[in-house]
Amino acid sequence: MSQSQGNTSKTIVITGSGRGIGLATATILASRGHRLIMSDIDAELASQEAEKLGNGAAGFGLDVTDRDAFKEHLEMVESEFGPIDVLVNNAGIAPACPNILEQDPAMTDRTIEINLKGVMNGTIEAIRLMAPRRRGQVVNIASLAGITGVAGLAAYSASKFGVVGFTESVRMEFEDSGLKFTCVMPGPVATGMMDGTSSSPVVSMLQPAEMAAGIAAAIESGKPRVSLPLSSYVLSRLISILPPAFGIKLGKWTKIDRIYTRITPGARDDYEQRISR
Ligand SMILES: NC(=O)c1ccc[n+]([C@@H]2O[C@H](COP(=O)([O-])OP(=O)(O)OC[C@H]3O[C@@H](n4cnc5c(N)ncnc54)[C@H](O)[C@@H]3O)[C@@H](O)[C@H]2O)c1
Repeated sequence: MSQSQGNTSKTIVITGSGRGIGLATATILASRGHRLIMSDIDAELASQEAEKLGNGAAGFGLDVTDRDAFKEHLEMVESEFGPIDVLVNNAGIAPACPNILEQDPAMTDRTIEINLKGVMNGTIEAIRLMAPRRRGQVVNIASLAGITGVAGLAAYSASKFGVVGFTESVRMEFEDSGLKFTCVMPGPVATGMMDGTSSSPVVSMLQPAEMAAGIAAAIESGKPRVSLPLSSYVLSRLISILPPAFGIKLGKWTKIDRIYTRITPGARDDYEQRISR
């Protein structure tokens, strides 16, 4: 039995946890004795990965854009597995495009629907369940693109600014509720989301397990904000507070302006196809 079992074992729901950061986070938390409820738009993948995880983990299909389905999912989890201690709103997509005019408008809308409205759906329905018992944590996965603009990711960045603002606001609204709200702002993490992108000499790419370790630590401590790696956080904050002309120059000088605008031809096709389905 791991250290976290017994009184400290939590029931944790993670959306979009069939792969990537969500799966890595579920893996770490399950290994520490928590019960994981994994959901993904790809139901089969979520079930397969939950089965591999063991420790009572269960996988389900859920499209986070469907508010009623999200509500039903959380209610089903509570009736089958008991009170939800933590909801991690992790599902997200990042369609890359040289500029917003070239993006299919349906994909622009889909980005906001999944990344922002999906997070809002989950947060609102989780608060409804958690507030009466004055206990629970909502962890929303934003991005460093939620504190500074990113060329090639305008809609994504808009959605993540939304997640940061929404999470910071509900934390204020529910200050005395006993609930905890955590806003996670990762830098680049080596998942399908980074396929074919360019690198910058000053931005290091984390492995999913490294990012997941930070999220797991915030779940166990209740920390309100997490951003990794620190160097990328500092650079993003700096660019966001500099006058725009200097910020753009700094972005060019550090080559971070090209991460999502110089895509290796063909290298991102699988990812872009997957998220457009
Ligand atoms: N990888 C990065 O560099 C990075 C950086 C900052 C933030 N993030 C954020 O981390 C989160 C996870 O990203 P990732 O890199 O692991 O991506 P990923 O593509 O590996 O995993 C995302 C998962 O979300 C699922 N999903 C997509 N649409 C969904 C929907 N409508 N309903 C339910 N599930 C859905 C996908 O099927 C997939 O399994 C996202 O919110 C992303 O924006 C990632």
